[in-house]
Amino acid sequence: MAQSGKMVLPEEQVFYPPERFVRQANVKSREIYAKAQASPELFWALQAERLEWFRKWDKVLEWEPPFARWFVNAKLNVCYNCVDRHLKTWRRNKAALLFEGEPGDKQVYTYWDLYQEVGRLAAALQRLGVKKGDRVAIYLPMIPQLPIAMLACARIGAPHLVIFGGFSAEALRDRINDAGAKVLITADGGWRRGKVVPLLRNARLALDATPSVEKVVVVQRVGQEMELLSPTECWYHELLEEETPCPPEEMDSEDMLFILYTSGTTGRPKGVVHTSGGYLVGVTTTLHMTFDLKDEDVYWCTADCGWITGHSYLVYGPLANGATVLLYEGAPDWPRPDRFWQIIERYGVTIFYTAPTAIRAFMRWGEQWLDGRNLSSLRLLGTVGEPINPEAWLWFYQYVGQGRCPVVDTWWQTETGMHIIAALPGITPLKPGSATVPLPGLKVEVVDKEGNPVPPGQDGLLVLKEPWPAMMRTVYGDEERYVQEYWSRFPGKWYYFAGDGARKDNHHYLWILGRVDDVVNVAGHRMSTMELESALVEHPTVAEAAVIGKPHEIKGQAIVAFVTLKDEIFAAIKRGEWSWRETEDELKAHVTVKIGAIARPDNIYFTAELPKTRSGKIMRRLLRAIAEGKILGDISTLANPEVIAELKRRYGDQEV
Ligand code: WT7
Repeated sequence: MAQSGKMVLPEEQVFYPPERFVRQANVKSREIYAKAQASPELFWALQAERLEWFRKWDKVLEWEPPFARWFVNAKLNVCYNCVDRHLKTWRRNKAALLFEGEPGDKQVYTYWDLYQEVGRLAAALQRLGVKKGDRVAIYLPMIPQLPIAMLACARIGAPHLVIFGGFSAEALRDRINDAGAKVLITADGGWRRGKVVPLLRNARLALDATPSVEKVVVVQRVGQEMELLSPTECWYHELLEEETPCPPEEMDSEDMLFILYTSGTTGRPKGVVHTSGGYLVGVTTTLHMTFDLKDEDVYWCTADCGWITGHSYLVYGPLANGATVLLYEGAPDWPRPDRFWQIIERYGVTIFYTAPTAIRAFMRWGEQWLDGRNLSSLRLLGTVGEPINPEAWLWFYQYVGQGRCPVVDTWWQTETGMHIIAALPGITPLKPGSATVPLPGLKVEVVDKEGNPVPPGQDGLLVLKEPWPAMMRTVYGDEERYVQEYWSRFPGKWYYFAGDGARKDNHHYLWILGRVDDVVNVAGHRMSTMELESALVEHPTVAEAAVIGKPHEIKGQAIVAFVTLKDEIFAAIKRGEWSWRETEDELKAHVTVKIGAIARPDNIYFTAELPKTRSGKIMRRLLRAIAEGKILGDISTLANPEVIAELKRRYGDQEV
């Protein structure tokens, strides 16, 4: 460890790559940046050689802003690259998946085993009538059948949409309907903190209004004597009994690989579309570079496959690299807060990729849970999901990495598909709290409202100025929204607008400042304030609602809703027929049903009116200030300044 300068501000603390690490690093020389910059297309063409193509491309990139096509006219199959290809090598008998369930059950899949099960499920899906281009919804716990189902879809060219198991029946239904999924793959349940997550029960609720779904495949996970209810439902294990692996479909580089729903700035989640060739080149290359992935590694990414991190860096990136991937089903504190350290010790995990919110929870639980655990196998740590505060970075570095492992903070998004800003651990000095610099071949800038670069030290908006291989191609069924939300912010310039604020320091290191739009980041999960508000106003008691994110020690941000009730409800409460408390509980439960437990507001503040400008715009800035107990600033533009005094009086000092 070395520190630069005389006065050590947090931003100036620098950690140089340890000598031991440098000597063995996949990327040892800074030349890679210059080379990639000189010709990004040549750079990506060279990276594409990592994969096996059925037919090579005519052209690396066709860029008709804002539409890109990568590896034009090339043919490949993503599943073939993640599975079959390795069978021709010594990796045939290498562990592909090491699984540990929450109750402690264990399973190992070699690449051969993976081929067998993926291939058989793919064949079974075909027999159920799933054809190239048909969408398949996946709603599963974190068990081997989740990556297996994704790969089986990729094998037959059926785009998958994975819906996080924590989403509610309604959220599941909306996504199935938006995508028009033909088949749903789910399970009788999954384990979380010793309890069963009732996935099949939720799925059945969703499926009473999903006309596109023809078949439901059910994995038996918890085995609690559930009966299948209708001929549309079938057991996964019975379905696979008769099958033998089918061959992979030949797919075009630009054929859709998957849709993944994420929250935007409107009430409706958007289906981010990723395609095959560029995506796989992007995730395979970045994982090799940023996490220094090697054949000997035991790689553990704690994200759920329901998020992009699970797609890119738990399934496609690692398996295309032929890695050994650890998969854990449950909670980090079950049965005790040392579960993760136990797992690292048990399997000899070498690369550990997790989120700042998890690190802050570990900090809160205390270092004593690490005592006596042998974590000496670890050689690299990664984080993603939100800006990591330097304290959490340093804790992770010191207690988990034992001062030995680079901490690679990775900035990226569902939309970018792959890491965009991250250190190359063998050559990039690290600064706690900064995601460091853009990866080779990528053009990232911090700009002002007009799209002009801002000088170091000034806050601006984060943009990408050139296309990259794993970029999203469109919003499913809504190209207009793709163009509007991501590419129309700076007239006359085709810049991708990420939605994040950022600052560059004097060494050109990037510091992400968080979202600048109506998106909140709760424990690394993205929520749209509009989506939450529309869920709230659907409740019969609510007249109006405004949602904000308030800083939270562990989760980064917590959801706070300001709600105006309908007059008759208000009157009923006044008469004592109904209480504030009951209303609050009911609204929290309502949001949980509408979206899922991750969206449940921490607090609901009732108000007779919301603070609005004279043109009727809700002033969220003021609501944020009230929830944070801050000075309010200028309220002269308000149409109803008296509501502020009232809100401050009622909720101003309250702990959230
Ligand atoms: C948003 C994307 C990429 C997988 C997880 C979230 C925030 C993500 C970082 C980071 C600062 C980060 C941004 C971004 N974010 N990683 N390392 N440092 N902020 O994916 O749900 O698409 O959310 O998460 O605000 O825009 P997502």
